[in-house]
Amino acid sequence: MSGLRLLGTGRALPSRLVTNDDMSAIVETSDEWIASRTGIRQRYFCAEGESAETLAVQAAERALDDAGVAKEEIGCVVCATSSATYAMPSMACQVHHALGLAQNIPVMDAGAACAGFLYAVEMARCLTLGGAGRYALVVGSEQMSRVLDMTDRTTCVLFGDGAGAAVLALDEAAEYASVFGTTGDMAIRSGGVSHTCMTMDGQAVFRFAVATIPRCVRELLDKTGLTMQQLDWVVCHQANERILDASARRLGCAPEKLFKNLDRYANTSAASIPIALDEMREQGLLAAGQRMALVGFGGGLTWAGLMMRS
Ligand code: ACO
Repeated sequence: MSGLRLLGTGRALPSRLVTNDDMSAIVETSDEWIASRTGIRQRYFCAEGESAETLAVQAAERALDDAGVAKEEIGCVVCATSSATYAMPSMACQVHHALGLAQNIPVMDAGAACAGFLYAVEMARCLTLGGAGRYALVVGSEQMSRVLDMTDRTTCVLFGDGAGAAVLALDEAAEYASVFGTTGDMAIRSGGVSHTCMTMDGQAVFRFAVATIPRCVRELLDKTGLTMQQLDWVVCHQANERILDASARRLGCAPEKLFKNLDRYANTSAASIPIALDEMREQGLLAAGQRMALVGFGGGLTWAGLMMRS
């Protein structure tokens, strides 16, 4: 199967750092409760003048610099978000405009909540395969603070704002496999007629996540004929440390194989996987050619798994 190679990444976090202690001034909670139940210590929220769109543009610029790919070489833009300021124009159109990319390229958003970045990568692969040029710009960006109910302690402490981006190249020889799916469940939702903030059945989502991550990884291994030992990294959506540790146990691998950075960013939804990839590259954790299974899960309920090499 023609796959994608990761050429460059970038991330952008808003300026307002909010610790668990800061959250305890907003709702009845504590650093002890949040850290022990989730592993989260802090998150960033957008300040005046910052939004999912401004973060997306910054992350995209950094990814282009990192990849060393010129703007005119980008053949498509796909952005994943569920908290954009505008329903239209799409976030991808706004990123495209701010970067001054070529006008005759496909540019669109993917809506699959926390699995959105991986859906966006797959859409970019299909667009490049369909002739949209060799290089794709894929962004996950969220202003979750815009859709959080700041009176609901069961959700508002869990999320943060941020953006991550990747420049990918079509490579006919690249190892690549993907799995996708959805249940159509309303366990996490935002928008609607009377209540526009996000609501979530946390325990149902927890059970879904610890079943979904190992299943996605096993399906990717089945598709590629690889073993767990041949995988260098499992990079999952960063929602809860307990979800990642339980998934590692079910996969029978060391917990360190599952990258974690949710202590500093909380759950940034569609941004969490590209932020993780950018940090891993920055820290020298992703050597060229290493195999990674990327797994996203979230509202929908959706899931997505991709196997690719760094
Ligand atoms: N501070 C203090 N106490 C709290 C808080 C809080 N922030 N939130 C809930 N509590 C209380 C509850 O009211 C409850 O009190 P009670 O026993 O008196 O009724 C108690 O803590 C335990 O609540 P639980 O819901 O049972 O806590 P649990 O251990 O299940 O942890 C959590 C809750 C963290 C939400 C967990 O279920 C979870 O992580 N679920 C997965 C969520 C997730 O991953 N969501 C992202 C999906 S991605 C997307 O698409 C958005």
